[in-house]
Amino acid sequence: MTRKGELDTPVPVVDLAVMEANLRRMAEVCRRNGVKLRPHTKTHKIPALARRQVELGAAGITVAKLGEAEVMADAGLDDILIAYPMVGPQKLERLFRLARRARIACTLDSVEVAQELSAAACRRGAAIRFLVEVDIGLGRCGLPPGDELMQLCARAASLPGLEFGGLLTHAGHSRRVRAPSEVEEIGRREGELMAGAARSLRVAGLEVAEVSVGSTPTAATAGAVPGVTEVRPGTYIFNDASTAALGLPGLTDVALTVLSTVVGHPAPDRLILDAGSKALSSDRLSANLLQGHGWIKGYPGLSIPSLSEEHAIVAVPPGASAPRIGEKVEIIPNHVCSVVNLFDELIGVEGDRVEVVWPVAARGKVR
Ligand SMILES: Cc1ncc(COP(=O)(O)O)c(C=O)c1O
Repeated sequence: MTRKGELDTPVPVVDLAVMEANLRRMAEVCRRNGVKLRPHTKTHKIPALARRQVELGAAGITVAKLGEAEVMADAGLDDILIAYPMVGPQKLERLFRLARRARIACTLDSVEVAQELSAAACRRGAAIRFLVEVDIGLGRCGLPPGDELMQLCARAASLPGLEFGGLLTHAGHSRRVRAPSEVEEIGRREGELMAGAARSLRVAGLEVAEVSVGSTPTAATAGAVPGVTEVRPGTYIFNDASTAALGLPGLTDVALTVLSTVVGHPAPDRLILDAGSKALSSDRLSANLLQGHGWIKGYPGLSIPSLSEEHAIVAVPPGASAPRIGEKVEIIPNHVCSVVNLFDELIGVEGDRVEVVWPVAARGKVR
């Protein structure tokens, strides 16, 4: 039997009990709010974990990329939302092939993408479901609520081969706040803007089946707004420093850490760990609230002000307790989704005992 402390580093380690509690808590929140849970599996990229989410009541899964959807469908997941616009002949060929073996939907926010999708469906004598993406503050994909959004929905819904499935948004800006207290308002607004947009579409005669919202920080508040039908949190399965910095939830609910070894102590105020940007990613999610590149568990006085590819540079203030060379420490990463994508395997532990090794089957599936 292998113990956590014997693992070679750097390595991502998942506390199975904490993960299970995270999964159950979100499933319960959604049940209480009367909304479907469609977890975003880009966080873990592991079919066995997607299946566990479905066992606990998820209505289906979300993925970011077609390649992730293919991996999940290969493993028997059969209701998959690809929260991404499908553009180009290669993608469309694969999309329609995939849609023959699973219930698939994708998103779009332009007439151009809708027309290309419709033409591809017609050429194949097929139909595909789509959701229109709404921007409620992130400033990525999506049209803001308003006339242009209404016109796009109506136009795309009228195209042959397309089935209008509803509206989708992602409140990723809930991590850009200056204070955790701002998150609840962002979630409430997320839900209200989306429910309002759906109401306007219905008044205009369109059927809007799904009003899909959610990020881990806003899933509970946005999901509680009447009219919202579905939430899509992803990070909640593991959590990370970005969610802990918001207190949603707290540090004890972080299930994944990167186990790392102290490989040097070249100056009294500087330690070196063997986890650099290739293990922790350079991501500075929640940069307004988070300083540095992750938290070292059990050493609150230490910080990680910088990374190079293979090194974490740890600042040791005078008098702070610090690990010795050869000791292993656990780092809570800033952004767990990017960390998982850097490793071939995640190690699941029960207490100190290694219980399971999962290949990260959808890692790198960026096409
Ligand atoms: C479209 C979409 N939905 C849902 C999520 C899940 O958000 P979170 O990781 O905050 O739970 C993401 C994450 O990036 C996303 O891009």
